[in-house]
Order: sequence, then structure tokens, then C-alpha cells
Amino acid sequence: MSSAKSMKIVGFAGSLRKDSFNKALINTAKELAPENVEFEVLDLSGIPLYNQDEEKEMPMSVKEFKRKIKGADAILISTPEYNRSVPGVLKNAIDWASRPHGDNSFDDKPAGLIGATDGRVVGTIVAQSHMRSILSFLNVHLLGKPQLFVTEAQSKIKDGIFVDEHTRESLKLFLEKLVEWTERINRN
Ligand SMILES: Cc1cc2nc3c(=O)[nH]c(=O)nc-3n(C[C@H](O)[C@H](O)[C@H](O)COP(=O)(O)O)c2cc1C
Repeated sequence: MSSAKSMKIVGFAGSLRKDSFNKALINTAKELAPENVEFEVLDLSGIPLYNQDEEKEMPMSVKEFKRKIKGADAILISTPEYNRSVPGVLKNAIDWASRPHGDNSFDDKPAGLIGATDGRVVGTIVAQSHMRSILSFLNVHLLGKPQLFVTEAQSKIKDGIFVDEHTRESLKLFLEKLVEWTERINRN
């Protein structure tokens, strides 16, 4: 485990939108993370489109992203759903971090997956399901339960943070379970 705190978690959202609900969920996770966790929020906005020609000398933003993923004890990803799947921005960042061949930054990492939408029902469920498949291929140890699908997010946020009690309680529980899961995986 790294740093003065006993666990380091890095979190990022699969949206570049300034007022993204998923960014708000990650920022709320930082606020609610357990005492022993150092939580760092990453931003995907500087990551260019993946180009295999650039693998030998990766862009600085990608090198930095890979370094942060590798240095973390666990990863938290919050994703919107785009056209019944994962946003290109998120898949693009994951593709970079999985390369070059033999240097998959996600290898053997514990992770948690959450998502928020302005929709009223089932938002992000299909995106999360597709993400499970991608992350499983990358040998990520994904927390199975609890699951977190936040709906009607626009009515639950103030100043970029979720203020809705139910969402905060659910997220707090999720983070506690992610910490337990990470301790269990990293013990073995
Ligand atoms: C290109 C695009 C496709 C979308 N497709 C879906 C979808 O398939 N299912 C869904 O529940 N919401 C869909 N939405 C709505 C997003 O989930 C919603 O805008 C969400 O708030 C975006 O996340 P963000 O607030 O973190 O940017 C789509 C939005 C966009 C921009």
C-alpha cells in the first residue's frame, strides 16, 4: 500500500462535460472516502485519441495516466451510458492504459464501477455491464456488490457535489465495500 494514508484510490469519470453528473459522483466519493484513504481525482480531458503509432513514445498525458493507475491500490470509475454502451472518451483512455502489449496498467487492480444519469430508470446499467466485460479482459478485480446506479442526478447535486442523503449513504457504503475488497485482493 502507498502513501501516509494506508490506501490510495484514484477515481475518474467517463465524461468531459464541465457539469458532468459522473464527475460530481467522483468528487463526492473523494469527500466521503474513509479516513484511511487518499483519494485522487483524475481528468481524462488531456488524453488524445489512441494511435498505435505513438505507443513507443506515448503522449505525456497518457504516461501520467498510466503512472497514476499503476500507483493506486484501487480504481473507482463513474461512467455515463452513451447509446447503450461505454462513452468513447472512457474506452479511449482505457485502451491507452492497457498498452503497450505486456504493460497493462490495470493488471491485477481492484476496482469499483458506479454511474449517474439524468434519466429516471435503469440509466448506466448497460454501460456498466459493458465495462465489466472490458475490465475483466484487462484482469481487473471488479467489486460485484453493492452496485450503484444514480438516477435523476440533476435534482440531487449542489455546487458539483451530491447532496441527496440516499445517494451519499449508498456511495459511502460502496466505498467501504471497495476498501474491504481492495484489502482482501491485495492481501493475497
Ligand atoms: C451521445 C449520448 C448518448 C446517450 N445515450 C444514452 C443511453 O444509451 N442510455 C442512457 O441512459 N442515457 C444516454 N444518454 C444520456 C446520458 O446518460 C446523460 O446525458 C448523462 O448525464 C451523461 O453523463 P454526464 O452527466 O456525466 O456527462 C446519452 C447522452 C449522450 C450525450
